[in-house]
Amino acid sequence: MTKDVFAAIAERRSVRRFSGEAVADATITRILEAALQAPSAGNLQPWKFYVVKKEESKKALGEAAWQQEFIASAPVVIVVSALPELVAAHYGPRGRDLYVIQDTAAAIMNLLLAAHAVGLGSCWVGAFLEKEVRRIIGAGEDELPVAIIPLGYAAEESAKPARRSLNDCVVILD
Ligand SMILES: Cc1cc2nc3c(=O)[nH]c(=O)nc-3n(C[C@H](O)[C@H](O)[C@H](O)COP(=O)(O)O)c2cc1C
Repeated sequence: MTKDVFAAIAERRSVRRFSGEAVADATITRILEAALQAPSAGNLQPWKFYVVKKEESKKALGEAAWQQEFIASAPVVIVVSALPELVAAHYGPRGRDLYVIQDTAAAIMNLLLAAHAVGLGSCWVGAFLEKEVRRIIGAGEDELPVAIIPLGYAAEESAKPARRSLNDCVVILD
């Protein structure tokens, strides 16, 4: 069963407690395929996805994320890494500093929504030591880890944090 995109957007929440239930490889593949459909500047697709299942590595990622221990409790952790030089080669500094981050953020959002659509919980974790994460996943200096995403079946119902109102953040220029 999958969800309509508006339902997925409205219902998706950051999940920080996971049941012990394993996630099938086919489900992970499906979610990653959705991430790959994201738009990217010049369609360069400047990203890499590390699928981490090894207990030791998940634990190390939690430590690298300032002791966010819930990360290791997920059955699967995906690290999304950006390739800034690939984009810089085409678009210069704007590609390196901006497009590559926008591209990977779009892929991450697809991934989170797809995970929710197939009944999985996830959380975008951005607070971590890049150098440590690179070492744990074996990425080179040319990569920029952008997000750590623990993925699993939710063992909690997350409350919905308030959002700003449209009036507060939309400017209409008629
Ligand atoms: C760039 C970014 C970094 C984030 N970093 C963390 C983090 O390090 N740890 C964490 O628990 N949540 C993190 N979050 C999740 C946010 O706290 C969460 O999305 C926000 O509170 C709204 O809640 P919701 O996702 O349930 O709508 C991050 C989200 C984003 C977009």
